[in-house]
Amino acid sequence: MARNLYLLSFLIPIVALNLQSVLSWRIQNSTNDISDSCPPQPHPFGMCKARVAAYGYPCEEYHVTTDDGYILSLKRIPYGLSDAGNSTGDTRTPVLLFHGLLVDGFCWVLSNPKQSLGFILADGGYDVWIANCRGTKSSRRHISLSPEDPAFWDWTWDELAAYDLPAVLRFVYNKTGGKKVHYVGHSLGTLIILAAFSENKLVDIVRSAVLLCPIAYLNRMRSRLILLAAHIFLAEKLHMLGYHEFNPIGRAAQEVLGEVCTDPEVDCYDMFSAVAGPDCCLNSSTACIFLQHGPQSSSMKNMIHMSQLVRKQVVRRYDYGKEKENMKHYGQPQPPVYNLSSIPRHIPLFLTHGGQDFLGDVPDTRHLLRTLVRQHDSDDIEVMYMPDYAHGDFIMGFNAPQLIYKPMVEFFKRH
Ligand SMILES: *[C@@H]1O[C@H](CO)[C@@H](O)[C@H](O)[C@H]1NC(C)=O
Ligand SMILES: *[C@@H]1O[C@H](CO)[C@@H](O)[C@H](O)[C@H]1NC(C)=O
Ligand SMILES: *[C@@H]1O[C@H](CO)[C@@H](O)[C@H](O)[C@H]1NC(C)=O
Ligand SMILES: *[C@@H]1O[C@H](CO)[C@@H](O)[C@H](O)[C@H]1NC(C)=O
Repeated sequence: MARNLYLLSFLIPIVALNLQSVLSWRIQNSTNDISDSCPPQPHPFGMCKARVAAYGYPCEEYHVTTDDGYILSLKRIPYGLSDAGNSTGDTRTPVLLFHGLLVDGFCWVLSNPKQSLGFILADGGYDVWIANCRGTKSSRRHISLSPEDPAFWDWTWDELAAYDLPAVLRFVYNKTGGKKVHYVGHSLGTLIILAAFSENKLVDIVRSAVLLCPIAYLNRMRSRLILLAAHIFLAEKLHMLGYHEFNPIGRAAQEVLGEVCTDPEVDCYDMFSAVAGPDCCLNSSTACIFLQHGPQSSSMKNMIHMSQLVRKQVVRRYDYGKEKENMKHYGQPQPPVYNLSSIPRHIPLFLTHGGQDFLGDVPDTRHLLRTLVRQHDSDDIEVMYMPDYAHGDFIMGFNAPQLIYKPMVEFFKRH
């Protein structure tokens, strides 16, 4: 018993702090562990080669250096197959897709061209750009640091909002000759743009923003595991033990998972959907590809910042915990708040959230909506509620093209 509790205390941050859909897949008509039915297929290739070119689409890779020295991989599908001859990237409107926590740009091309947003937008006439934030597989370089240095992992989503997001958006804006960019974020990819907007940043180069399962307030999230992890300060403890990189499939994590999951009293399958909510509409082939590309690393400090959001009903910068430390970093004893009410009202927003999403849960999303809608011009905000959807369905659901992407493209056409 005591041993199991000990193991669980390690397992919980690994599974529970995973604020993305990473481990929350559920296959239709199956209660078996999906990894048993996935063909083993190690993928040595990057996204362009492994997914995009495989379907015959053009794919370009760029490297963008942030102001704090991270070298990010940025992919581009400049045009689709349906009208490749008619218009190339030069005349098309750019769209930037920004993934959530613990995944990377692969999440936009996980299924076939009819199913995945990256391809659908390219075929729909858009110039598609796909971001990969610092720490993920293709963005683990820095001008002076290596991922082995603790300093490489000294960041949270504050830095994603302040450095990664502006760097890639500006790059796209420049590369396309100064065309304003449509933005699509999933999960943490929504929080960073809301944070930037709240400081009146990037508003001059973003044409509209789509928020898929927005994450901002996390105070009332429904996942008991995450609440527990946040309230017993697990990420903080692991950080103190010297973990700087948070790798959800690292060796330590695997060993613990393996051991706990063989315990008949622990049902790992249920634990996964207990984290992010039971996805209604995942297709096993898509979920397999998702697994083959694996969850991606983030920083332990980012995990701590996420748990701070869970513990406090306020969206603000990383809290160093001591007034003196906060003074040193921010010049004030408490971390500065991102005032979401001050997001400029004219930026067109398309927001969609799910009734089964434990992370972007309904009460927290309503709270966010009250903040946004009250301020917003009504023509410029559109909200879609999907009662059956959980976190992963928005990027992997087999019916997402019809239910989500189609109205999204209509929205783009109007803005
Ligand atoms: C699950 O799929 C099998 C065939 O693949 C089918 O025979 C069975 O009826 C399905 N079960 C449910 C509950 O849909
Ligand atoms: C964008 O392009 C302009 C001129 O074309 C240049 O001055 C500027 O430095 C560029 N910005 C970035 C972020 O590349
Ligand atoms: C899952 O995806 C495959 C490949 O795209 C497709 O053939 C199959 O019909 C899909 N299944 C469902 C339930 O949509
Ligand atoms: C947040 O922004 C709104 C709108 O600009 C403003 O009315 C409010 O006073 C701000 N709140 C704080 C705490 O600064």
